[in-house]
Amino acid sequence: MGGSVVVNVATVMMVITMMVAVVPSTCRAIINDNHHRQLYPVVLVPGAGGNQLEARLTAEYKGTSWLCSRFYPVKKQEGGWFRLWFDVGVLLAPFLECFAERMTLYYHPELDDYRNAPGVETRVCQFGSTQSLLYLDPNLKHITSYMEPLVESLQELGYTDNKTMFGAPYDFRYGLAAEGHPCDVGSTFLQNIKQLIEEASDSNGGKPVILISHSLGGLFVLQLLNRNPPSWRKQYIKHFIALAAPWGGTVDEMLTFASGNSLGVPLVNPLLVRNEQRSSESNLWLLPRTKQFPQEKPLVVTKNSTYSSFDISRFLEDIGFPEGVQPYQKRVLPLVEKLAAPGIPVTCIIGSGVQTPESLHYGEEGFDKQPEIVYGDGDGTVNMASLLALVDEWRDEENQRLKVIKVDGISHTNIIKDDESLDQIVKEITIINDGLSTSSFVSSS
Ligand SMILES: *[C@@H]1O[C@H](CO)[C@@H](O)[C@H](O)[C@H]1NC(C)=O
Ligand SMILES: *[C@@H]1O[C@H](CO)[C@@H](O)[C@H](O)[C@H]1NC(C)=O
Repeated sequence: MGGSVVVNVATVMMVITMMVAVVPSTCRAIINDNHHRQLYPVVLVPGAGGNQLEARLTAEYKGTSWLCSRFYPVKKQEGGWFRLWFDVGVLLAPFLECFAERMTLYYHPELDDYRNAPGVETRVCQFGSTQSLLYLDPNLKHITSYMEPLVESLQELGYTDNKTMFGAPYDFRYGLAAEGHPCDVGSTFLQNIKQLIEEASDSNGGKPVILISHSLGGLFVLQLLNRNPPSWRKQYIKHFIALAAPWGGTVDEMLTFASGNSLGVPLVNPLLVRNEQRSSESNLWLLPRTKQFPQEKPLVVTKNSTYSSFDISRFLEDIGFPEGVQPYQKRVLPLVEKLAAPGIPVTCIIGSGVQTPESLHYGEEGFDKQPEIVYGDGDGTVNMASLLALVDEWRDEENQRLKVIKVDGISHTNIIKDDESLDQIVKEITIINDGLSTSSFVSSS
């Protein structure tokens, strides 16, 4: 028991639940070996909230309230840059409103693209390094740890920041759009990460890169792969490990759009951040996809109506966000229509057996009141059907290798922190570095 099953999606459809953690001593033996060997470089691509964002306000900025016009976080760096995400200090009203105002994106129909709020400039921190991915807020390391445990595990394997291990943070409020639509911020990120991958490979003797994503990062990586020619993928990418990727969207995202999401902080009133969350392009990208959520299955039920994944446009209208309909239909729907197989070996490592919102039930009071939630299987955030979407999607792909490792009881965020899932990730990277990965895959031809 405890072995993962490698499947060729064209022939076998099998997923085995991982129950047993790797014995620590085995781990250590592997680790010592790795210090003496050249590793395939890794590039980490974080999930939505795991990216730190900095902002500065220009003369164009007009806070809607007196407070927001005057209020700046205490710590400001050179050039007026301050921490926008994540800063625990702004979580309390009234500062929360200023934060939400500065985080809000605007869709400009005439540009067919998204932009920041007027007068707000934003940037990601330390692109290329894993430094900015370790904690959500480096001033509160203990309570805001993010990729730190994963990065430490990689260091034990012999990986070093900026040498063999790299980080690709991005502005997670922005998404990508279907081809033919401008997408300034998202496309620039794809350019930057492409260059980072090429440099990582070049500086490591031409070794191809192992991409490791968390959550939303996986959706960006799949697009990156499919938007570059097969020859590029073959030269530069060794393997793609997607942790907790929401391939088919989530019902939880419908809750965010309808009633806001308190960011996991009990003191936060979700309605105060709802408009900001609705404005995020990447949130539209994460709405439930029709292939994983069948038409006969209502995801949202109100006194007046029911909404399945086929009714998202009507849902956006009815919750009071009609502005979302056009970008959803034009930019997002064609983007998620197909999850093309990149031909690069893919491993999905997912949590399971955690209560995950499966349908939302609203009463007389409508969407301003939090709904009753019916739960199903998943990782607490992403539904099982969505985590497993590629198994379905790539069923008939002859040349796509896909391996799925389920770790029972591990939540969406704990997948990058918990010892049991870290063991699985380390094991997978070790197999790839040992060159065992290709031979152990069932070959289709
Ligand atoms: C990697 O480079 C970044 C600058 O992009 C720097 O802040 C970080 O400290 C470097 N990491 C190490 C381990 O030197
Ligand atoms: C149901 O419809 C009525 C009339 O159109 C509307 O006033 C009410 O807000 C709706 N309730 C919900 C929960 O959508």
